[in-house]
Amino acid sequence: MEDKLKQLLEEARIAITAAGIADLQLVEARLLGRKSPLAEMMASLGNLSPEERKNIGILINQVKAEIVQLLEAKKQEIFALKQKSTTQRVTTIPGIKPEIGHLSPLTYINRELVDIFKELGFEVAEGPEAETEQYNFDMLNIPANHPARDEWDTFWLKHVSDPDSVPEGLQSRREGSPTRREKDDKHNTLLRTHTSPVQIRYMLSHKPPIRIIAPGRVFRYEAEDATHSAVFSQIEGLMVDKNISVAHLKSVMLHFVRRILGDEHEIRLRPSFFPFTEPSFEVDVSCGLCKGVGCKGCGNKGWLELMGTGMVHPQVLRNVGIDPNDFSGFAFGAGIERLTLLKYGISDIRLFLSGDMRFIKQF
Ligand code: FA5
Repeated sequence: MEDKLKQLLEEARIAITAAGIADLQLVEARLLGRKSPLAEMMASLGNLSPEERKNIGILINQVKAEIVQLLEAKKQEIFALKQKSTTQRVTTIPGIKPEIGHLSPLTYINRELVDIFKELGFEVAEGPEAETEQYNFDMLNIPANHPARDEWDTFWLKHVSDPDSVPEGLQSRREGSPTRREKDDKHNTLLRTHTSPVQIRYMLSHKPPIRIIAPGRVFRYEAEDATHSAVFSQIEGLMVDKNISVAHLKSVMLHFVRRILGDEHEIRLRPSFFPFTEPSFEVDVSCGLCKGVGCKGCGNKGWLELMGTGMVHPQVLRNVGIDPNDFSGFAFGAGIERLTLLKYGISDIRLFLSGDMRFIKQF
C-alpha cells in the first residue's frame, strides 16, 4: 500500500503540473473524487488490522493533504495568470481617436449665399477656372488694348494643344510665362480673373428669363496684403428679364447683404465703372463696428466696399444674342473672402490659405 500511495502521489504531481485552466477540475475529481484511488483505499481500510489501519490511514491523509496543496498551488498559479492577462488588456495603448474636421468658413458662407439666392429663385451655374480670353474679356465688352484690362492682371496659360489635358505652364510672369502683352496670340487661355465669364457662357446657352449665381475661384497676379489675395473666390449674380431696373438690383443687393451680415446694415450704391455694365456701381456696406459713424476698421469712412454691380451693358446682351430692346438685367460680383472677413471680423485675408490650424479651428 505504501508503494502504491507513493506512486499515486507522483502521478498526481505530474497530472497537476500538466493541467491547464480547462481541465484542472477534472484532474481534481480524478484524484480526490468518490471513485478516486485514494477514496477506494480509504474504503478498504476496514479489511486491515487496527494497527495497519491506523498507519495506512495516516499515510492516505498525508498523500491527500499533499494533493490538495498541489491543487491549491496550481489554482493560485492559474488565477495569477488570468489576473495578468486582464491587467494587460486594461493597460493596452489607447486607440488613435480620429480627428473630425469641419468645413472652412468660406464653405459655410458659400452655402449660405447659395441658400439665400435659391430662395429668390436663382440657380447655381458653373464655369471653368481655365478660361478663354474671349469669355473672360472680349465678350464682356473688354476688347484687346482696352485700358480696363489693366485692372485684372492676368495669369496667362501657355499653349495647350489638347484642351482636355492639364495645362503645361501655370507659371506666373515672374517665372517667365508670357505676360498679357507677350502672350501667344493663337492660344489665349488664362486663369479667369473674375466669375463674370460665367454670365457669357450661361447666356449663350439659355434664353431669358435668367436668374443665376456662380460661385467660384478666381486668380489675379497681384501683390498680396491683408485684403488682397492672388487666389480668391467670387460669387457672380445675373438676372435678365423684361423690365429689370436698378430698383430690382438694389433690393436684391440689400436683401442679400442683410441676410448674410445682419439686418442692421445699410448699403449704398456708389457710381463706378465696369465695361460690361452700364450704369455701374460699387456696393458699400455700413461698417458693422461703428454703424456708419467712422472708425479704424473702415478707415473712418463709415462704409466698406463689398462688391461690383451694374445693369448688364446692352453690348454684352447683343454679344450673346439677346436683344437689349426686349430684355434688361443686372449683374454683380462679390468677393467671398471679403464678405467672410466682414462677417467674422477677420483681420487678414491671407489666413484663409495659411493652413494655420489655430485659425481654422475657431470656426
Ligand atoms: C469684378 O471682378 C467684376 N467682375 C464684378 C462685377 C460683376 C461687376 C458683375 C459688375 C457686374 P472687382 O475687380 O471689383 O470686380 O472684384 C469684385 C470683388 O472681388 C471686390 O469687390 C472684392 O470684394 C473682391 N476682390 C477683388 N480683388 C480681390 C483680391 N485681390 N482679393 C480678394 N478679394 C478681391
